[in-house]
Amino acid sequence: MDLGLADRTYVVTGGSSGVGLATVRALLDEGAHVATCGRDAERLKRIGEHERLFTAVCDVRDADAVREFVHSAAEAFGGRSGRSGRVDGLVNNAGQSRMKRLDETTGDDWRDELELKFAGVLNPLQAARKHLAASDAASVVNVNAVLAKQPETRLITTSAARAGILNLSKSLSQELAADGIRVNSVCLGLVDTGQWTRRHAAADSGLSYEDWQAELAADRGIALGRLGRAEEVAYAILALLSPRASYITGTSIDVCGGVGRGIL
Ligand SMILES: NC(=O)c1ccc[n+]([C@@H]2O[C@H](COP(=O)([O-])OP(=O)(O)OC[C@H]3O[C@@H](n4cnc5c(N)ncnc54)[C@H](OP(=O)(O)O)[C@@H]3O)[C@@H](O)[C@H]2O)c1
Repeated sequence: MDLGLADRTYVVTGGSSGVGLATVRALLDEGAHVATCGRDAERLKRIGEHERLFTAVCDVRDADAVREFVHSAAEAFGGRSGRSGRVDGLVNNAGQSRMKRLDETTGDDWRDELELKFAGVLNPLQAARKHLAASDAASVVNVNAVLAKQPETRLITTSAARAGILNLSKSLSQELAADGIRVNSVCLGLVDTGQWTRRHAAADSGLSYEDWQAELAADRGIALGRLGRAEEVAYAILALLSPRASYITGTSIDVCGGVGRGIL
């Protein structure tokens, strides 16, 4: 089935690694124009050159920098396609989690975590809103975590912030429907990306990465017995971005290998 993404323009935050990078690559493979950002210029360069790829160094917490990034991308691609200023989709992916329990968490931890999670959605959305409204198939996908629905005490700030973002996504879907903009979420379980290679290194367990992952999957009760792959998340994101998903808004898809036993 043709997802209808070719020649459209998508903005993906945090595209230099993991889920973001897999999404950027999948969109380019579908023939889309893609703009992405990250804080580290060298990591962005490693994505490689592509005539339909626009990259910029930008921290999603910096509203002015995000506005500049999104407007530049919309103009750059619009000029080429003759549809100046139009953005068809936004993937709010940039971010990371904070592995801390209540007693280890400072006031700054709470402020920093809430700022990253909320600014990571609101800054790109505010910057892209008028460009999205110019599309005939506008879609926003917020990359979230099953933690939003199943909090973990070892990730107390991240769990609370994730729940807030899931709630915010619902409000946005209601308010932006009038502009023809759909808003949905993907909720990840454990996905094999930079976050987990860093944790494996920090754990210094003596186990190979594969054995460490297998232990982790068993410990966390992942039904499919393994961590997810970034490409598996990217396919779910592309499905929600697609104009074919035109009647789907205000919902979330869990991409988590069946972790947890709740009916969500
Ligand atoms: N992997 C998992 O198991 C998992 C589970 C649940 C949720 N998630 C969420 O899924 C998203 C992607 O995770 P991932 O595992 O793919 O992470 P990753 O491999 O660490 O990649 C994160 C990407 O976001 C960028 N980034 C981080 N902070 C940023 C900021 N303030 N401004 C702009 N860019 C920023 C990074 O580039 P720079 O560092 O160069 O800025 C990188 O491109 C994150 O929001 C993460 O919290 C992941």
